[in-house]
Amino acid sequence: MNEGQATRDVEFLRRALALADRGWGQTAPNPMVGAVVVRDGDVIGEGWHARFGGLHAERVAIAAAGARAEGSTVYVTLEPCAGRGKQPPCVDALIAAKVARVVACSADPTPLKGGGAEKLRAAGITVDLGVLDADARELNAPFFFAATGAARPFVSLKLAVSADGAIAPPSREPQWMTGAPARAEVHRMRANADAIGIGVGTAIADDPLLTVRHWSRPRVNPVRVVFDSEARLPLTSQLVLTAPAQPVLVLGQRPDYGATAALITAGVDVVQVTSLADALAVLHTRGVRHLLVEGGALLASALVRESLADRVIIFHTPARLGPGAVPAFVAGSGDPLSAPDRWTEVVRRPIGDDTLAIWAPRR
Ligand SMILES: NC(=O)c1ccc[n+]([C@@H]2O[C@H](COP(=O)([O-])OP(=O)(O)OC[C@H]3O[C@@H](n4cnc5c(N)ncnc54)[C@H](OP(=O)(O)O)[C@@H]3O)[C@@H](O)[C@H]2O)c1
Repeated sequence: MNEGQATRDVEFLRRALALADRGWGQTAPNPMVGAVVVRDGDVIGEGWHARFGGLHAERVAIAAAGARAEGSTVYVTLEPCAGRGKQPPCVDALIAAKVARVVACSADPTPLKGGGAEKLRAAGITVDLGVLDADARELNAPFFFAATGAARPFVSLKLAVSADGAIAPPSREPQWMTGAPARAEVHRMRANADAIGIGVGTAIADDPLLTVRHWSRPRVNPVRVVFDSEARLPLTSQLVLTAPAQPVLVLGQRPDYGATAALITAGVDVVQVTSLADALAVLHTRGVRHLLVEGGALLASALVRESLADRVIIFHTPARLGPGAVPAFVAGSGDPLSAPDRWTEVVRRPIGDDTLAIWAPRR
């Protein structure tokens, strides 16, 4: 393949990735997928998987291209599926449309749907796999993690951290640390999670609502989860008061009997667990595939220490919180701020006056 072709492949797959992103919050447990149909250098069809159970990206893009799809190249962010799920296999549509070539970012890791490339090749279609593979995997990281057969959710841990490494002022009075763009980004992140978790210390100090606002409504609202050993979550908290409308789950190791009864009466689900790992296993059995944890320091440190954080997302703020502020992590946790050699930085970009950094563990 010549250099110009390789550059064009990357360009069209970048476009396909941008289209895939339009399914954000709508496709889980399916992945977000985008597709572009190109003939003679022109884009003649585009599509994306818009909603769980709906048409797949390739079928939408081919339908948009119509009869001109014959002899075209189809760029797609995930290997076209070979098996039937809620929709018929995409490979059949590509073969029927007589496309000449398929370029895909990542192989489909699911046994039911995988093997599409082989079927396409058997039908005489050229297939190239693996272009922008890392980008496509990052977009759908919880989907790829679930496909490994892990018995826990993919865990993203998010904190806002001051220039002096703290997450709360000495007074522990709740305060906005980041600017509006970073806060909007957190709501966008929430929309792609099946559950949002916090430690009970944060529930008591900040009384958060943990709903998706400032972003499009996700297909399913995330379950709100409190890691709370003794079921101390206050009955007057926003979480408890809104539990009848949007689920709240308390995971406790030794939940107080009376407090548990009162929480259940208020509409909160309380489940006894044996450890943090067990709590994650319980969430997995309840269909949570992606958990976004939003602090505080003790819960964050425990997740990192026990190698249960798959991404650490830090919004670095320019403000300093001064002596006596709450450090982001307990010393010796092995977090990316104190032990960066254990982590790979996958994102670093400015967001308003703040900086967003995302790390993946080196495993
Ligand atoms: N800047 C930020 O991004 C940010 C985010 C969140 C919070 N904060 C701030 O952080 C402060 C709260 O942080 P925090 O560290 O005190 O509390 P936290 O991490 O929110 O909650 C800690 C509590 O969670 C419970 N817990 C349950 N399972 C646990 C486990 N496996 N490991 C550790 N804890 C577990 C424990 O209480 P029990 O033993 O009673 O169960 C523990 O005391 C507040 O001031 C808040 O404003 C800042």
